[in-house]
Amino acid sequence: MCGIVGYKGKDEAYSILIDALKKLEYRGYDSAGIAIWQNNKIVVERNKGKVDDLRKIASKNILKGKMGIAHTRWATHGTPSERNAHPHKVGDVVVVHNGIIENYMDIKERLHQIGHEFSSDTDTEVIPHLIISYLEKGNDFVEAIRLTLKELQGSYAVAIMRENERILVAAKKESPLIIGLGDDEFYLASDVPAIINKTNRFIFLEDNDMAVFRDDKILLMNTEGENIERKINTVNWTGAMAEKGGYKHFMLKEIFEQPRAVSETLLGRFKEEKGEVDFEELTLPELKNVKKIWMVACGTSYHACMIGKHMFEANLRIPVETDIASEFRYRNPIISKNDILILVSQSGETADTIAAMKEGKRSGAYTLSICNVLGSTLAREADGVIFTHAGPEIGVASTKAFTTQIAVFFLLMLHMANKLGKMDNDEVRGMISEIKKIPHKIQSILEHTSSLEEIARRYMTSKDFLYIGRGIHYPTVMEGALKLKEISYIHAEAYAAGEMKHGPIALIDEKLPVAVISPRDQTYIKTCGNIEEVLARRGRVILFTDDPQHEMAKRVDNIFTIPETIYELLPILCVVPLQLIAYYIANLLGTDVDQPRNLAKSVTVE
Ligand code: M6R
Repeated sequence: MCGIVGYKGKDEAYSILIDALKKLEYRGYDSAGIAIWQNNKIVVERNKGKVDDLRKIASKNILKGKMGIAHTRWATHGTPSERNAHPHKVGDVVVVHNGIIENYMDIKERLHQIGHEFSSDTDTEVIPHLIISYLEKGNDFVEAIRLTLKELQGSYAVAIMRENERILVAAKKESPLIIGLGDDEFYLASDVPAIINKTNRFIFLEDNDMAVFRDDKILLMNTEGENIERKINTVNWTGAMAEKGGYKHFMLKEIFEQPRAVSETLLGRFKEEKGEVDFEELTLPELKNVKKIWMVACGTSYHACMIGKHMFEANLRIPVETDIASEFRYRNPIISKNDILILVSQSGETADTIAAMKEGKRSGAYTLSICNVLGSTLAREADGVIFTHAGPEIGVASTKAFTTQIAVFFLLMLHMANKLGKMDNDEVRGMISEIKKIPHKIQSILEHTSSLEEIARRYMTSKDFLYIGRGIHYPTVMEGALKLKEISYIHAEAYAAGEMKHGPIALIDEKLPVAVISPRDQTYIKTCGNIEEVLARRGRVILFTDDPQHEMAKRVDNIFTIPETIYELLPILCVVPLQLIAYYIANLLGTDVDQPRNLAKSVTVE
């Protein structure tokens, strides 16, 4: 979704801003723009298309100045076009904005009646117009912004400049915005990876915060006009972590990073001699009073929740309900104050998941987020947080976030099962030894990818794919199908294998590749039956199993063997070849793997 960057300091702003915009490209966007404050004037360049196109246009102009703001836009109000691209300049005020101003029609109508002319279709344009209207009433620049922000309903992260005033103002409400602290210089960005090569010291702005950068100082205040203080956080990510490191795409790099990502997520969690999993940072409610656990998320993170449900219900014997975050609050869920609501999100900024957390808080439930991004809204605002330590995930298709989320669910399940007396320390110790082997097992899959490339070549021209699995493998096939459709644009459907004969079996013919997960576990016999059904209709089976002697091995078109592990951890191993097949197909088709069409990395609007 939209991205904001800003700079005020001792260096030329132009290349710093373009460089940071490039790093925000992964979030998804359709137009880009930049504004540089130079000699009391502000020069704006913007266009539809990529940051590289903007660079070509902007380089015709000499953009020199040590303060500026820039933006990548993901269209919500108004088509992708130059006139709708940010920055929006009205009079001498220039604004970039992320989020949605819900009352923009009312404001626009009111300002129109007093003579304001609008030149875009965006909701954003009302912001500079409102600021101008407050300036005309005699307010100073900062006060005019503050009064404007108080009128806005909806969500915003904004960066604002004015000609003849060497001040940069930033503010946020329900859209992310962070400040990077350099040596006598300040950065603004929508997320950490955009500026991690410049600094690792950040202030994470909170809702209704404003930051005023004047001379070499920052004044932090809220929209009530009160001075506030915010902590400076040090993030241990490095610039190199947000680079491709020799891989063709971020997605491929991130798939190959999974052994390290899972290892780091496990680090420091075990008291092995005692047979305990440690979540010292959490103050969970009294578990014996917990009547229900909710797991709520979007997309890939939702699939992790479905896997979490299998683990928790089987081992804790507490009912678990999973929900797609965008549906959750609209069905008026019956949440009790003795429930635990687990919100899962790589970015920690997904608007629907944040709204679900708020719903949980209103009901008095304990909210616990599983997040990858330090300082993100879900990490800050939930009652408890567990971080996945996947490192920055740049590819729009989520990969290492998913496997680390499953690892966290597994650890949390062990911790809770032990506390509830459902698993003794010896059992926990046994389970710990299984998950400790997982990074090495992922590595062994990653060392044998040539057959997956071959499978990709064989089926890359297929129009449709079917993915089937049972039990804990059903969410894994959903994840495999999501990976394929989002980056290759091939239609892929996932079904619980037992559901096939209730409809989708009608699709099967000799042209349909059917990916099946069938390890030798409690789902084995039934899934063999489902493979028979596919073969009887001449479907092309791609089998993923931990058993090279699988009874269907000789009859299927393709078989890929994964290492053995316990049932709960199979999804981590099974999903890796599915991620790779999706990647190889998309790469062969030449799609934009890291920034697939129409998609955004961080979905910050509902
Ligand atoms: O940052 P989040 O985990 O909250 O994001 C949720 C989804 O938007 C995300 O998983 C999306 O489905 C990915 N593109 C999947 O690859």
